[in-house]
Amino acid sequence: MEKSRASATATSRQQPQAVLFDAYGTLFDVYSVGLVAEQLFPGRGEALSLLWRDKQIEYTRLVTTSNHGAHYQPFWQLTQASLRYACKRLQLTLNPEAELQLMNQYRHLSAFPENREVLQALKSRGIATGILSNGDPEMLGIAVRSAGLDGLLDHVISVDAVRKYKTHPEAYALGEQATGLRAPQIAFVSSNSWDALAATWYGYQTLWVNRYALPFEELGTQPTRTGRTLTDVLDFFAPAA
Ligand code: LAC
Repeated sequence: MEKSRASATATSRQQPQAVLFDAYGTLFDVYSVGLVAEQLFPGRGEALSLLWRDKQIEYTRLVTTSNHGAHYQPFWQLTQASLRYACKRLQLTLNPEAELQLMNQYRHLSAFPENREVLQALKSRGIATGILSNGDPEMLGIAVRSAGLDGLLDHVISVDAVRKYKTHPEAYALGEQATGLRAPQIAFVSSNSWDALAATWYGYQTLWVNRYALPFEELGTQPTRTGRTLTDVLDFFAPAA
C-alpha cells in the first residue's frame, strides 16, 4: 500500500537540506486537550476543542491582517482569549480552575510517538531540523522540553519575531533566515492543510501530514507530498546508506 503520494514533480526537485515542522497538531499532539475538555464538560469536549482551535487560528489572522498589526498579541494570549470565546459561545461556564487546567494542558503537550525517531533519522543524514510555529518562544520552549525533543532540533523559530502569524509571508521567511537556505531547499511539514498550502505558495517543498483522513484545501494547489505520519518526511530523502 502506498502511504504517501509524491506529486509528479516531487522527484525532479532537489533533496531538501533542512526540514521545518509546524508545532501544534504536527509535532505536538493536541488531542489530550480534548480529553481534559471532555472531563470538564462531558459531552461537549470535542465541540469545545474544535471551536477553540478554529477561533485561535481566526484570531491569529484577525490580528495579522488588521490595522497594520497594531493589535498583535502573543499566541498564548490568543489561545486564552479563544478558549474564553469558545466557552461563551457554547454556553459553558469556564471557572478560573477549569481555564488553568485547559491552558496547562496546552502548555505540556506530548509529542507524537514517531517524532524522536524521525528527527534522529534526519540528523543522521545531516539534515537541519527545526520548528516554525505561531507559538510564542516561551510556549515552544516548554513544549520542546516537555516532549523531550531538546537536542534534536537545530532551530526553534517563533513568528513572534515578526509579530505576524502564518500565513503572512514574513512569518514563512523566518525559516529561510534561520537556516540560511532558500524555501525550495527546505521541506516544511504541517498537519494543518491551510499551513501546508500557504507554505507551498510561499515556495517551500511541503509535506501535509493528514493524520485524520481529511480533505485538502480546494484552492487549486496541492502540497508537494501527502502522508499520514511524520515518518513520511523521510520519503524526501534517498534511503540512508
Ligand atoms: C503552529 C500552529 C499553526 O504551531 O499549529 O504554528
